[in-house]
Amino acid sequence: MRILSGIQPSGKLHIGNYFGAIKQHIQLQQDNQAIYFIADYHALSTVQDPQALKENTLDVALDYLALGLDAEKTIFFKQSDVPQVTELAWILSTLTPMGLLERCHSYKDKIARGIFPNHAIFAYPVLMAADILIYQSELVPVGKDQKQHIEVTRDIALKFNNLYGDIFTLPKELMVEEHELIPGIDGQKMSKSYNNTIGIFEPEKSIKRKVMSMVTDSKTVAQPKDPQQSNLFTLYCLFANPKERETMERKFRVGGTGYGEVKKELYQKIIDYFAHHRERRQALTENPEYIENILTAGADKAGKIAAATLSRVKQAVGVA
Ligand code: ADP
Ligand code: TRP
Repeated sequence: MRILSGIQPSGKLHIGNYFGAIKQHIQLQQDNQAIYFIADYHALSTVQDPQALKENTLDVALDYLALGLDAEKTIFFKQSDVPQVTELAWILSTLTPMGLLERCHSYKDKIARGIFPNHAIFAYPVLMAADILIYQSELVPVGKDQKQHIEVTRDIALKFNNLYGDIFTLPKELMVEEHELIPGIDGQKMSKSYNNTIGIFEPEKSIKRKVMSMVTDSKTVAQPKDPQQSNLFTLYCLFANPKERETMERKFRVGGTGYGEVKKELYQKIIDYFAHHRERRQALTENPEYIENILTAGADKAGKIAAATLSRVKQAVGVA
């Protein structure tokens, strides 16, 4: 299967991103032709600080490679390095009804959060459709919030195919495991917009401070506790093996274990789990040229696929 996904370089990646998306991306590269790109043109619709955009882009590249992206197997590149996608976006926009975009939740949410409604934010799903269609992607792993954008992509592709001939593969979303949303340190969904994240590669001290400050109820050490109601337990389970989970669940139910002790165990688990990723990231940081080469080679491969699709599209619509 040809799998494609885009990652927005709009901030430091956190544990919610890891268990909600990155881990599956890494697993999927084993048995599929995976294409992953850093969606810098998408991020530009909200990040208008050139230094921050550059740094975030490099950070995502480092994070993914450190977390196990295999640059030999997987095509990994920066969206803006394959300019054909913006050409295709224009062509697709001629088939996109305004109403379709006006109904998009992510657009409405951004406006509701007070983000200035520029044209790129409005047209965002069209660029996303171009990303998906230009590589003839079959499966697109995304979180719930992006499902509607895949539906929009299918609508646009169908319209195009009906009008101009069967050029585009119709993609399907792959809802990465119906996992629970991973809670942040305040108990809400972990998200950079809520400022409640634990970064995968944050300094250990700061991870410790955050874990120790996680919100709990006010049960005393002696009191039995309900693991199902505890964010600490939810996070702990992500890092623990089944036996450790069972032991922790028992500790909660019988009482005698305070939240402070659980937090210390959770902190240690997080550090151990990402220890070798952290080492690998450090080594990669010292070799920026290597990263640059990977992204350039990726853009080269992606560019060939994109150019082939675009050439067919241009002929089909009558501009070539
Ligand atoms: P954020 O909410 O921090 O802005 P994004 O919206 O950029 O994160 O999400 C990037 C990916 O990570 C998406 O696939 C999303 O579904 C996943 N993700 C983000 N936060 C969580 C979470 N708390 N639990 C599970 N998955 C998450
Ligand atoms: N919109 C996606 C997000 O915010 C990122 C993205 C851009 C993407 N283009 C894509 C995801 C194409 C899948 C396919 O997470």
